[in-house]
Amino acid sequence: MAKTLIKNIKGLVQCGEDLPQIRKGADMKNLPILEDAFLALEDGEIIAYGPMSEWGGITDWRDLEVIDAEGKYVLPAFCDSHTHTVFAKSREEEFVDRINGLSYEEIALKGGGILNSARRLAEMSEDDLFEASKVRVERLMSYGTGALEIKSGYGLSVDAELKMLRVIKRLKEECPIAIKATFLGAHAFPTEYKENHRGYIDLIINEMLPKIAEEGLADYIDVFCERNYFSVEEMAEILEAGINIGLKPKVHVNQFSALGGIAKAVELGALSVDHLEELEEADIVALKSGNTMPTILPSCSHFLSIPFGDARRLMDNNLPVALASDFNPGSTPSGNLSFVWSLACVKMKMNPEEALNALTINAAYAMDLSETHGTISLGKKTPVILTKEIPNLAYIPYAFGDQLIERLIF
Ligand code: NIG
Ligand code: FE
Repeated sequence: MAKTLIKNIKGLVQCGEDLPQIRKGADMKNLPILEDAFLALEDGEIIAYGPMSEWGGITDWRDLEVIDAEGKYVLPAFCDSHTHTVFAKSREEEFVDRINGLSYEEIALKGGGILNSARRLAEMSEDDLFEASKVRVERLMSYGTGALEIKSGYGLSVDAELKMLRVIKRLKEECPIAIKATFLGAHAFPTEYKENHRGYIDLIINEMLPKIAEEGLADYIDVFCERNYFSVEEMAEILEAGINIGLKPKVHVNQFSALGGIAKAVELGALSVDHLEELEEADIVALKSGNTMPTILPSCSHFLSIPFGDARRLMDNNLPVALASDFNPGSTPSGNLSFVWSLACVKMKMNPEEALNALTINAAYAMDLSETHGTISLGKKTPVILTKEIPNLAYIPYAFGDQLIERLIF
């Protein structure tokens, strides 16, 4: 049995027994921090915590690893509820094209973007894809990510979508953090179906989904609802087919245009609606009517130079906000959530406490992990983040670009 005691913790963050599963509106400013604390873990499960003055209860010191966290903070691991971690190759050439004046949408219309990633992924073996992806997951863990959602969507054919989902399944089995799989066959129309949307949607519904159900390859279903991609009606049809095989919706909406996808997704019981760079009053009204987590991806806004999601407006309407990385080779080549934390503060005017709630409690909700992740509470099986020595918690988003996460502890 692996036992770990972390002692002399400068601040034990987000700890307690009666913490909510969602923080919204003004409550997002609340962040419990216990100063001068200890934390005990047994086989990855939180078994005790409290002020250092009360840590005398540990009597069995055999096989106990003791970590001295003098000057350091301990936080629940970040939950990254939206990533495309499985992909074949990076896309720096499109980055340079954008510097030279092309927009992300123009590059996509020329056959770059998602279709570019799909061509490269089709050529890569499942084993090579798995190895490359595993290295990425390890890097994300070194940044403090302790739960990870990963989407398919660079396959766009029956074989390649299944290949991606099987890689995610292997990552679930072989990586030490919780991983959730999302089927995103509706990420783009492949070139041969550009003028035949019906044909591709039929392929998704009649060919891909039955195999996914048979092999148990996905937890969620996603659609990129956007002009030049999937319309609201097309999204609804695909989501309903996913719901029929037990997949909960979790969708890409309102990245470049507000088409009404949020209202439809909320109506269909989506777990989260993600991106939201564009937001209209009708979207706010729809979000208030359901339990869907609005999720903002500020690193994508930063990299594509598009608007940042309006987190303050959501919170002013007593709604919750989650933050995620959107790690992918096209719009967000960074999966570093400390940077997301910083962007949320600097560009979206979230307080450090609000942004950390968005990366822990609310992000855990957005991937159905509230029972095990998001807070430091007895019985939870979440890894925890040990920071480096820092003067206070706000120093992490303040000192952007610094790697202030020392490691994850299980
Ligand atoms: O979330 N917007 C759609 N999908 C991804 C980007 C995909 C890509 O460019 O490879 C996103 O930003
Ligand atoms: Fe995405």
